Amino acid sequence: MTTWDPRQYAAFADERARPASDLLARIPLETVTAGVDLGCGTGAQLAAIARHWPAARLWGVDLSEEMLSVARETVARAFSPADGQRIRLDRADIGAWEPPEPLDLIYSNAALHWLDDHAALMPRLMGLLKPGGVLAVQMPRNYAAPAHKALGETLSIGPWRERLAALLRPEPVSPPEVYDELISPLASRIDVWETVYYHHLSGEDPVFNWVKGTAIRPFLDALPDDQRGDFEAACKARLRDAYATRADGITVFPFRRVFFVAVKR
Ligand SMILES: C[S@@+](CC[C@H](N)C(=O)[O-])C[C@H]1O[C@@H](n2cnc3c(N)ncnc32)[C@H](O)[C@@H]1O
Repeated sequence: MTTWDPRQYAAFADERARPASDLLARIPLETVTAGVDLGCGTGAQLAAIARHWPAARLWGVDLSEEMLSVARETVARAFSPADGQRIRLDRADIGAWEPPEPLDLIYSNAALHWLDDHAALMPRLMGLLKPGGVLAVQMPRNYAAPAHKALGETLSIGPWRERLAALLRPEPVSPPEVYDELISPLASRIDVWETVYYHHLSGEDPVFNWVKGTAIRPFLDALPDDQRGDFEAACKARLRDAYATRADGITVFPFRRVFFVAVKR
């Protein structure tokens, strides 16, 4: 299993929060009795959901104990012990997790791209909702970006080639129209969109630092200690070529994301 480093992930907290709140803003529910944040990570969105629907009973589901321990602190900081009791954190695989009751809301920001076979996953998630319940999903769809090309090239040369080739996955996220077609028969209403965010990053090797928190984690985890430094250096060099730093010190990092908010029929 990929390990997650909550501090590395939090390094771009503002940039990562923007699509999460754009998704939350489109959820057409006045009340939520029971809901879940799938792949809740450090719990920032789970807390936002709990504030937005103050009577909701909520689950935060994640596979990473490191992320969940930060999520526990997030909940403890944001809510009184009595109020915090309506929020439960479950260590579980999204692919297997089942709620004890049908839900009003399934929210998932930047997590479902870690699971395969969306043609089966999305209808399964719709099946966990009450009629009128909402599935709200955001996933990165940045696989054609220079960052991914740079990573692919780095993987394909060097002593790590065979070891890392085994970890390559087919592109997990489909174009928006595929989710529209897949989910529309199960929905009374669906809102699908795609956005490119032009993140302004600064500092040394900012794009490497971004992908280090997410996309290249599985590869770094799989490398022996004596190859990790060379691999990181090779990634950095290619990413510097792919994303020039402007005279004002800003590196612009375009990032494409797909969203959908579906109301169950
Ligand atoms: C990129 S982080 C996003 C965290 C949070 N949703 C946010 O927007 O800040 C992805 C999270 O999904 C979790 N994750 C990935 N695959 C998972 C799976 N199969 N089951 C449960 N959690 C998973 C990871 O542990 C990680 O915390």
